[in-house]
Amino acid sequence: MSLRRPSKEQPETFEFNSVSLEAAKTIIAKYPEEKQHSAVMALLYIAQKQNNNWIPLVAMKYIAKFLKMPYIKVYEVATFYSMYNLSPVGKYFVQVCTTTPCMIRGANQLVEACKEKISENENELSKDNSCSWMEVECLGACVNAPMMQINNDYYEDLDKEQTLKILDQILNGETPKPGSYRGRVNNEPENNRKTLINIKNA
Ligand code: FES
Repeated sequence: MSLRRPSKEQPETFEFNSVSLEAAKTIIAKYPEEKQHSAVMALLYIAQKQNNNWIPLVAMKYIAKFLKMPYIKVYEVATFYSMYNLSPVGKYFVQVCTTTPCMIRGANQLVEACKEKISENENELSKDNSCSWMEVECLGACVNAPMMQINNDYYEDLDKEQTLKILDQILNGETPKPGSYRGRVNNEPENNRKTLINIKNA
């Protein structure tokens, strides 16, 4: 996984719009007085959603003031977790899991496909500005490894060929079918297997 750095190009201002403000107030109200700093992760997510799926530094400062906490603490949270994007991402945002189970099942082929179809480097927009990709830590679908997430959908049980096809589809503005690409329903066993021992050498 690459080093996470804030974008060199940053907007000068940020403030919650009315929808975000309402959502932030609802979240903060769930915490007791003096413990409201704990809402920082939720507020960062709200800011990211409002700002085309990435969080500029000025939004971290805004949240710090909003929660009356040091800016550096907000910055530390935002830069630690990979679910917060620190630079602009494409309308189609591809996250390839490269943690161990996905890696040993061929996640590097998915990364190759992203490099071929989207951009040579992570966190770089495709030529038409519609798409970007990055490597992420486990997305919790290890049983369907290797997999990637595009916006809110999971694409699972992939190989390079399938990944290239999926990326072609999104680059053509189509919506590929999410889920398993080995025909499994969710994460059911293959070959009607019911136990770990009923198919020899399975
Ligand atoms: S290791 Fe890839 S989803 Fe868990």
